[in-house]
Amino acid sequence: MTLQTEPNDIAPSLMSPLDPHVIVLFGATGDLARRKLLPGLLHLARAGLLPECRIIGTSLDDLDTDAFQKVARGACEEFAVGEVTTTEWAEFETRLVFVRQSDGADALRAVVADAERSLPGEPRRLHYLSVPPNAALAVVRTLGEAGLVERARIIMEKPFGTDLASARKLNAALHETFAEEQIFRIDHFLGKEAAQNILAFRFANGLFEPIWNRDHIDHVQIDVPETLSIDTRLEFYEQTGAFKDMVVTHLFQVLAFMAMEPPTALEPLAISEEKNKVFRSMMALDPAKVVRGQYTGYRDEPAISDDSETETFIALKCAIDNWRWAGVPFFLRTGKRMAEGARIISIAFREPPKSMFPIGSGVGAQGPDHLTFDLADASKLSLSFYGKRPGPGMKLDKLSLQFALHETGRQSDVLEAYERLIHDAMSGDHTLFTTAEGIERLWEISTPLLTNPPPVRAYQSGSWGPNAIHQLVAPHAWRLPFERAWRE
Ligand code: BG6
Repeated sequence: MTLQTEPNDIAPSLMSPLDPHVIVLFGATGDLARRKLLPGLLHLARAGLLPECRIIGTSLDDLDTDAFQKVARGACEEFAVGEVTTTEWAEFETRLVFVRQSDGADALRAVVADAERSLPGEPRRLHYLSVPPNAALAVVRTLGEAGLVERARIIMEKPFGTDLASARKLNAALHETFAEEQIFRIDHFLGKEAAQNILAFRFANGLFEPIWNRDHIDHVQIDVPETLSIDTRLEFYEQTGAFKDMVVTHLFQVLAFMAMEPPTALEPLAISEEKNKVFRSMMALDPAKVVRGQYTGYRDEPAISDDSETETFIALKCAIDNWRWAGVPFFLRTGKRMAEGARIISIAFREPPKSMFPIGSGVGAQGPDHLTFDLADASKLSLSFYGKRPGPGMKLDKLSLQFALHETGRQSDVLEAYERLIHDAMSGDHTLFTTAEGIERLWEISTPLLTNPPPVRAYQSGSWGPNAIHQLVAPHAWRLPFERAWRE
């Protein structure tokens, strides 16, 4: 496919400048901060997207500012894209300060006040809570005690509760300190360039929206197998499992982008409203339509009990009971230690009502026509269809139109999901964040599964999950592993 793109006319300098900020990073020495947040902030600075700011790291570690700067440098050298030059680091480092969390609210208040004095005007505050779920509310209380709520926004990490009751409790407790518009619940899948491209693809083109419904779409798959194991996160994972870790957050959110009605505007409220309408229309999950799996050997991992019932894999069938989607099954799957890592949305179109092609021509032999979104950072898109094989007679092959982001020459402009979302939070843009209402509804439809989970079934590491996944999807078949590879 030939690609024609226009020059980038939204250079950072043309976007409205962000106010100066004090960013308080809770959990500043943890895994997420090291892998994503600190390198992400450095990348934003490089791209000219970070406003004048101070970054205050805080954690349970006994560090001072010098030691924190060293930790941050190590993290950026290991995880940032490209080499960290001495000059850029010298500039970035001056923004980094550390305060021990154990020093309490007064110490935090003093460090923030100090940072604010070094910035022009009345800086905004961005509190990033990269802390375990059971520590989040204590941090929120500290922020209240320290008087750091005014002019502030707060980014929360999942899980946002573990069931309906706990999600409601968490939201109510948060709202005692912060107003809903100050809260940014992060779901990094929505920050992925490819996830946002779903909106562009659907709503910027006249071609696809008319067929985006039950009349033309047979079923949908959202498939996110991971080869990763759980290594360093066993304790967290044992409490959480694949459903709460991946489905309630990432997969359902992506499903909402795929299934929502056109919003009245490309604005946070309009988009959240449409997503929430999808969640409201979703039918409660039926445990009989869920396959939970556990890789063999999970129970031998350190910190995991011999009779653990935590799922490291889940596949499920769900339904959206509205006019657009009634009768269209949505199949979701994700798990650890699987055969391949992928993140795809695959839309299968209905087959033609009659076939005029001779038996043996190959029509339908490779499944229906598909539209496939690959949500990888180097995102791809493919539309497959049957076409004639050259030569005599009428033999048909499955062909495809494919698009790959890297062919546009724009891949270096991609912001990593966390970078994009931190930037959006600083500009107060809620578009890619989830709401209290949405989260609570998702827990509500999950209740039957949480109260009556089917038993976990064993699967081999390196496989596609327990055998029962085939019955779940029948008479269809899982798209992965692909019969035909992406074009290089
Ligand atoms: C995280 C989950 O939110 O997302 C992990 O906790 C998962 O278990 C990860 O591996 C996947 O994210 P990505 O961006 O690497 O696909």
